[in-house]
Amino acid sequence: MAKFQCRWRNVFICLCSPCICMAILLFFVMIMACNSMNGTSTPGIHSLNRIHFVASGTLRNKSYAPIAKTFWELETSKKGFWNKLQHAVDVQFNPILHPNNTKRKSGDIESLLKQSFSEVAHSDSGRKHFAVLSEPMQEFVRYMQRRDYPSIIQPDGVCGAGAKDEKEPPLLLLAIKTTELNFKNRQAIRQTWGQAGWQAGHEMNSSGGYIRRVFLLGKEDPETLGVDVSPLLRMESKHYGDILQWDFQDTFFNLTLKDVLFWDWFSSHCNKTVFVFKGDDDVFVNTPKMITYLQNELNKPHAHKTMKDFMIGNIINGATPDRNNLSKYFIPDSFYRGLYPSYGGGGGVVYSSLLTRRLHLTSKMVHLYPIDDVYVGMCMERLNTYPVHHPAFLTFDFPRKEGNELCSYHTILMVHKRSPQQLVRLWADLKKTQRKCWDVPLRHNNEKRL
Ligand SMILES: *[C@@H]1O[C@H](CO)[C@@H](O)[C@H](O)[C@H]1NC(C)=O
Ligand SMILES: *[C@@H]1O[C@H](CO)[C@@H](O)[C@H](O)[C@H]1NC(C)=O
Ligand SMILES: *[C@@H]1O[C@H](CO)[C@@H](O)[C@H](O)[C@H]1NC(C)=O
Ligand SMILES: *[C@@H]1O[C@H](CO)[C@@H](O)[C@H](O)[C@H]1NC(C)=O
Ligand SMILES: *[C@@H]1O[C@H](CO)[C@@H](O)[C@H](O)[C@H]1NC(C)=O
Ligand SMILES: *[C@@H]1O[C@H](CO)[C@@H](O)[C@H](O)[C@H]1NC(C)=O
Repeated sequence: MAKFQCRWRNVFICLCSPCICMAILLFFVMIMACNSMNGTSTPGIHSLNRIHFVASGTLRNKSYAPIAKTFWELETSKKGFWNKLQHAVDVQFNPILHPNNTKRKSGDIESLLKQSFSEVAHSDSGRKHFAVLSEPMQEFVRYMQRRDYPSIIQPDGVCGAGAKDEKEPPLLLLAIKTTELNFKNRQAIRQTWGQAGWQAGHEMNSSGGYIRRVFLLGKEDPETLGVDVSPLLRMESKHYGDILQWDFQDTFFNLTLKDVLFWDWFSSHCNKTVFVFKGDDDVFVNTPKMITYLQNELNKPHAHKTMKDFMIGNIINGATPDRNNLSKYFIPDSFYRGLYPSYGGGGGVVYSSLLTRRLHLTSKMVHLYPIDDVYVGMCMERLNTYPVHHPAFLTFDFPRKEGNELCSYHTILMVHKRSPQQLVRLWADLKKTQRKCWDVPLRHNNEKRL
């Protein structure tokens, strides 16, 4: 009985499958025919509106998050304020739409940004978007066109504090974002992981390298602060030579200015330095391991090719903007739509000086964005390159209990959120345990990243 049923089922399948296939094929052909008939009536630029352009090479390495679609998308009606601003600029630099547009004068680029701003901000939808923004965001938009803030204090003509007579080009410049009142943080860094001059690498046989240091500051308003600390800061600068301060208000949404102005300063003052660590003043860096790691990277056979794209850190892929209006990272969707590009998460990242110069040039074509890490990612995206994740950068601290193990701080390059007191203790511990932990490797991935 079972056999009989089975045979009938086979016959049924044999007869019906081709019929179903034919039906599907016919349906498909009809849809294609309809489409091509419609298509002929809307030729040229109209049909382009639905296409996403993707720069060649972008998706070659599948281990990276795919590029955010919004970069090359031509349709703008459903975009946020910033997307619209930037879209007007991106279209001009789209190598597919404008193959001959590769050489532009910087004055042209500036006027392009101005033009896109006045078009979008003064349109009806632009005004509507602006009206619903929070007060700090509105303040950001009011000033987002300006970036030519002069410096108030500079290290004397050189690339930050360092040794007087370096025998080789500096390996690493530590560029640390801080604020006027955070003197304790700066002092702890100077005495621990941020010492300038020649520093030994980690391994017994590693040769070490020259370190330079600079702190990046804006200005606090003496009235809101209640005191004027600028004379103290000038004294600090005289003593340590590592202060770089600009004349803009040091607020959260102005932090991006520190990156942009730092790249500008770096490009004209640091032509020999090989790497930059850019980080916050509440991180701990295992400098000896960092030196060894970077030297190993430099000694790799293909380093001359890879250095122009070199950026490592704790990389965040495919993040969505924070839509919680109580968060300090809050971005309403009237301001930005879509995913963020891959970016190095807060705390710190390391990049090459070659990449710094390229970021400097590209940043002139990218409207400022209120969240600094994301802005760097946006510039990277426009260079068609991606930061590389390294598990030894801990933005979100150690997994539970691991931080208390004897050698845990020998497994990392950086960890975020440490107080000045903790820095001093951790640095002493690092020295004390160096013998015992000398062969502990850096943290590496257990699970494979997509
Ligand atoms: C993609 O890049 C990662 C990180 O640089 C590398 O480890 C991986 O081997 C690359 N994959 C391919 C297919 O090239
Ligand atoms: C770009 O330049 C090439 C050669 O210089 C020329 O043949 C081509 O027509 C130009 N294309 C456009 C879109 O102007
Ligand atoms: C240090 O020496 C060991 C063996 O003596 C070697 O395996 C290692 O690669 C060396 N490290 C560097 C950075 O030269
Ligand atoms: C950024 O700094 C400028 C110059 O001091 C200031 O006018 C502006 O209000 C600041 N922007 C924000 C968002 O705080
Ligand atoms: C680097 O800068 C110094 C001083 O600013 C200058 O004398 C030197 O020629 C520059 N070197 C290169 C390679 O640009
Ligand atoms: C924040 O969002 C909540 C819920 O989405 C809303 O009720 C509240 O009014 C918002 N607050 C502000 C200041 O926009």
